[in-house]
Amino acid sequence: MNLIFASSNKNKIKEISALMPSNIVLQGLQDVGITQEIPEPGTTIKENSFLKANFVIDFLKNKNTSVFADDSGLEVEALNNAPGVYSARYAGTPKNDDANNKKLLQELNTKTNRKAKFVTIITLILNGQVHYFEGEIKGTIAFEPRGNTGFGYDPLFIPQGYRSTFAELGAEVKNSISHRAIAVKKLVEYLKNSQP
Ligand code: IMP
Repeated sequence: MNLIFASSNKNKIKEISALMPSNIVLQGLQDVGITQEIPEPGTTIKENSFLKANFVIDFLKNKNTSVFADDSGLEVEALNNAPGVYSARYAGTPKNDDANNKKLLQELNTKTNRKAKFVTIITLILNGQVHYFEGEIKGTIAFEPRGNTGFGYDPLFIPQGYRSTFAELGAEVKNSISHRAIAVKKLVEYLKNSQP
């Protein structure tokens, strides 16, 4: 079965492809001729996750297309769950990870509560039915950026049970415990159990 992953991020496609059941051929957006950036006008992570998956169905004009999309964000308790759905462009456009991290530290400057969580919601549209798979990881926000690996808020996020940030822990540890990994595992389990 062909399954489209509504992403053009080659690293993400490769990583998730390796986890898929053997009867599934994963295709990225470029493989199905979608080269434009998919709009994300939603006001929640779940909405944007759905909109991305649904965009592919609409674009290909084929209701039988099987597709999934993921959307993630960082929710900080003392900031009423901001930046959330706006994580990528928290400090404005164009998207800039360093500026986002600086803004986050500034916003937390006067707060003692540094609790946060990363959230991923995957939307799978299979045979016209919509399924959601969620993953989250709790942690705290460091007082300054630490570490060199990863992307986004990785230098500031310390997962619960650890003293290092995601950027210090490195890809292998991060990919075994992350919000995205948890959601992908749930998707893979579902696909394994639902495919003949
Ligand atoms: P996306 O939906 O995976 O593209 O994530 C949206 C934004 O959330 C990213 O641009 C990052 O700012 C932030 N984000 C999501 N996942 C992570 C992560 O694993 N580490 C650091 N930042 C992340």
